[in-house]
Amino acid sequence: MIITAASPKGGTGKTTLSVVMAALLAEESARVLIIDLDASCAISQCYGRILQDATSMEFLSACPENFAGIYPARKNIDIIPGNIRNMLLNNIMDTQLKISLRKSGLAHKYDYILIDPPGYWGAHLRNAVYASDVIVIPANCSRIDYEVTRLFFDTLQDCGLEGKEVFVCINASNKKTNLPGIEDMYRQEFGEFLIPYPIPYIQSLKKITDNVDYPLHAAVKQKLRAVTDHIIKGEANG
Ligand SMILES: Nc1ncnc2c1ncn2[C@@H]1O[C@H](COP(=O)(O)OP(=O)(O)OP(=O)(O)O)[C@@H](O)[C@H]1O
Ligand SMILES: [Mg+2]
Repeated sequence: MIITAASPKGGTGKTTLSVVMAALLAEESARVLIIDLDASCAISQCYGRILQDATSMEFLSACPENFAGIYPARKNIDIIPGNIRNMLLNNIMDTQLKISLRKSGLAHKYDYILIDPPGYWGAHLRNAVYASDVIVIPANCSRIDYEVTRLFFDTLQDCGLEGKEVFVCINASNKKTNLPGIEDMYRQEFGEFLIPYPIPYIQSLKKITDNVDYPLHAAVKQKLRAVTDHIIKGEANG
């Protein structure tokens, strides 16, 4: 299963959610591959895999059959690292990643492939969307996040993504600072496509992208496990 946490807005929690999902799935002995498509290389940095010899840029632009850019990250987790030069690669086909994944056979070698794209609607995010089975849109609790999420959700429908699951996941919810009524607004707008477990604003989650081994409280883990299970079981879209 290929999953992307995607948003055309920066800072919504895409990388955080990917790191958390990778850890929870790997903990259950699933084999996980992360593909970093973001030129900022944030998720590569999480696993100490920046500035590697072979990266997602070569995976997108060269013959992927004997690709040498898969690096161990943690137990059961490998990564194809990002490349700062990805920002220069704008003229790739939107389906190049899908083609590279098919040619490489990687979807058969891993239980889950998690793609971490940049937070703008460009070639890399489109490649992530077209390659994925499941797209999760993390959305923070502000008016602009709400409007961006609506726009992106509609844009995805216009892309003709039949057969793909799309979810919206409320992230960094904090009753004191949220736009009043925002969770209800998300519920009304997205209905069954909204994951029914909002992720709270939690200090330990803030720390996890600096230290992927940072221990999460059992209650936090339980909530994130419910989110992850919902995503992999495709509960909304049947
Ligand atoms: N649930 C949460 N609670 C607390 N902090 C969070 C939570 N989710 C994300 N953050 C923090 O919000 C910031 C943005 O998160 P993250 O880097 O995961 O977003 P992103 O969508 O990947 O950003 P970018 O668009 O830059 O790639 C980070 O500082 C992260 O630690
Ligand atoms: Mg990110």
